[in-house]
Amino acid sequence: MNMIDPQKLPRHIAIIMDGNGRWAKSHAMGRILGHRKGAESVRVTVRTCRRIGIEVLTLYAFSMENWLRPAEEIRALMKLLKEYLDMEEDEMMEQNIRLMAVGKLDLLDKNVLEKLQYTMEKTSKNVKMVLNLALSYGGREEIAMAARDILTDGLAGKIKPDEIDQQLIQRYLYTRELPDPDLLIRTGGEWRISNFLLFQMAYTEFYFTKTLWPDFREEELLEAIAQFQKRERRFGRTSEQLI
Ligand code: IPE
Ligand code: IPE
Ligand code: MG
Repeated sequence: MNMIDPQKLPRHIAIIMDGNGRWAKSHAMGRILGHRKGAESVRVTVRTCRRIGIEVLTLYAFSMENWLRPAEEIRALMKLLKEYLDMEEDEMMEQNIRLMAVGKLDLLDKNVLEKLQYTMEKTSKNVKMVLNLALSYGGREEIAMAARDILTDGLAGKIKPDEIDQQLIQRYLYTRELPDPDLLIRTGGEWRISNFLLFQMAYTEFYFTKTLWPDFREEELLEAIAQFQKRERRFGRTSEQLI
């Protein structure tokens, strides 16, 4: 904890929680038990981020592409999500955490969607941290949706072509209310972003680790933040210009 400068915290941390399947395999278990174990890392991560004062934590829990997985695994993930929301509802209220979700939510199972909407509504006045779940989420899909909505508003005369700029596009994304991620963490050893927050991560700092998600605990989260704090974010300028 004393590695971290409380004045230089990332406002928004996004995490690609990868490696549950490989964790399960290495423990001679089925993939679904790996996801179950991964849910414990979610609890630890949410608590730690809340405690140290992170404003927004976005967790990539299910991608658009994950719909291509075996039906049994999808069912188990949906069940786990519902269980997570049931278990954490009180904690979110106590900890003053607001739940949000980004993605093509209408594809989710009805009972999961209802629980999600209920919890988002119930926590909507909470202000200490946003826990943002990326569910049925795809970055390209999000950009396509934004383009559709912009054209719809354009045809209705609400916007003109020359008003379309970066800020306007931002306002049509799922994440319109949130700052861009400052830090992306990907566990599980892959060096890719798998269609996550494509528009929003233009200047995000990346931290990739081989640690599998079920093994990712507070210590490594703090290590990732400490590394982030050592980076120089130049946003295109020179080092000298930053002083
Ligand atoms: C990440 O773990 C969880 C989800 C994608 C839902 P994986 O299930 O992708 O685990 P690996 O990559 O197979 O180890
Ligand atoms: C990314 O993990 C999606 C989530 C963590 C929810 P995947 O395991 O689905 O990513 P790829 O397909 O290996 O890139
Ligand atoms: Mg994976």
